[in-house]
Amino acid sequence: MLADEVVDCHVLVIGSGGAGVRAAIEASQYGDTVLISKTIVGKGGCTTMAEGGYNAVLREQDSCGIHFEDTLKGGAYLNDPELVNILVKEAPLRMGDLIKWGAVFDFTENDEVAQRPFGGQQFPRTCYAGDRTGHEMMTTLVERLDSSNVSSLQEFTVLDLLKNGESVIGAIALDEKGNIVLLKADSTVLATGGGTKVYDISTNSSSGTGDGFAIGYRAGAELIDMEMIQFHPTGAVFPYDARGRLVTEAVRGEGGLLLNNICERFMKQYDPERMELSTRDVVARAIATEIQAGRGTKNGGVYLDVTHLPREQIETRLPVMLEQFLKFGVDIRNQPMEVAPTAHHIMGGLRITTECRTTLSGLFACGEVAGGVHGANRLGGNALAETQVFGKRAGEFAGKSEKRIKKVDSEQIKRKLAYIDAFLTGSENPAGVRTLLQQSMWQGAGIFRNATDLNKTLRIVNNLSLAPIRAESLRNLAECCIVRNMCLTASLICRSALIRKESRGAHLRVDIHQTHDAIHSPFLHTFMSPFREGIENIGGLA
Ligand code: FUM
Repeated sequence: MLADEVVDCHVLVIGSGGAGVRAAIEASQYGDTVLISKTIVGKGGCTTMAEGGYNAVLREQDSCGIHFEDTLKGGAYLNDPELVNILVKEAPLRMGDLIKWGAVFDFTENDEVAQRPFGGQQFPRTCYAGDRTGHEMMTTLVERLDSSNVSSLQEFTVLDLLKNGESVIGAIALDEKGNIVLLKADSTVLATGGGTKVYDISTNSSSGTGDGFAIGYRAGAELIDMEMIQFHPTGAVFPYDARGRLVTEAVRGEGGLLLNNICERFMKQYDPERMELSTRDVVARAIATEIQAGRGTKNGGVYLDVTHLPREQIETRLPVMLEQFLKFGVDIRNQPMEVAPTAHHIMGGLRITTECRTTLSGLFACGEVAGGVHGANRLGGNALAETQVFGKRAGEFAGKSEKRIKKVDSEQIKRKLAYIDAFLTGSENPAGVRTLLQQSMWQGAGIFRNATDLNKTLRIVNNLSLAPIRAESLRNLAECCIVRNMCLTASLICRSALIRKESRGAHLRVDIHQTHDAIHSPFLHTFMSPFREGIENIGGLA
């Protein structure tokens, strides 16, 4: 036998963040469900690091129509309207599940779930648990998972999906010792989260390496809009090791002000109406422009100031920020923070239907690895909602799917074994390749883009993909596979960014003169698969 172990189940869920755990809980109602995690369930992924909140329409003065409109406008009208419609309608229901399962969100004096304003939204609809909302959600989800009959496999790295003909029938993985495990499943759910760790400065946890984009692509699934990278406006700028760490939008939601080095509220030049609560693409570009123009701080950021707010508001609504900055030697009650943009979220991903089906039969996707919900720019607070809405749907439709013939031909396993065996005789340190990749992406595929830099970055990425990286032992094979996945994800980003010859949402092509605005754009989704790549436009394909 080529594998050390074989697991057979009805639904295999890959990824243990908010979407993956929610999918597994749901799928387990329909048959044997296995959840496989690169990390420890509940500890890795980005959901647990999400701070600011979860968007849901809960008040009479708000409506799903307004949430829909905000999401589409914020996404520069590249969103799939059907997916957005589901998001806004089901976000309150999934919020109800979390509360029923024990999540402790903040409540108002009138005993209603408290909501705060977030950027680009006409109504303060972001529900929160202080500034540790994702953590509260994950704790609740993991408790619920523990009381379900899902089997969890932790510290397993998925190498690739298994296929029988054109259908996905599970995955091939490495356990923490480097043993090969085959996981056969009637339905497989990819919920591997995002991948902005391909950038030097990122809010993502170390698991945000884009594995799902690479795994899906290699299996033949189609991905859309991979050029759409969200740079969160406010990441920490010092100390060095904390660069990029999330400084939640909730700081601005609570009334935080952005100031340049001449104490000017510079957002009035960029979006005088919405100011600090403009959409993230606009605020990130504004901050980057101020810094480039020499109006930044000495540490290379701008100021984010809450010193005018009541101390009690800071202590109760932003306790994590207060503690985090105290560790950096800054008391935010008396001194401003320094912040700069940081790579945060990939809006693109596997193309999905409203049932979370990808373009491959047997494969579902949900959460950040799926594309289409957020269009060209995501509203803060819509990601946590997305994990629950589409996590539940992916689990449900995967669970309801028919049984399949799970015949694994040994050739695909042999090919994968040869792929990983080559790492044992490689010569280059994968950590070095990772660092070069991250720096090149930051320099050439960041906020301000042009064809020359994107082409140069793509060439570097292509070369790095071919580097003969070395695993010192079986235990290091996973690291090599992850670095290769990062290279592929980076390549998808650069290629899509070159294909989209317009500026839209988070994607700014400074080398293209454009006369249309987002609503009149002739372009729709960029798409990438091993079989075709290009851009859809109003009249067809380009
Ligand atoms: O700023 C934040 O708290 C992040 C929220 C989000 O990305 O949705």
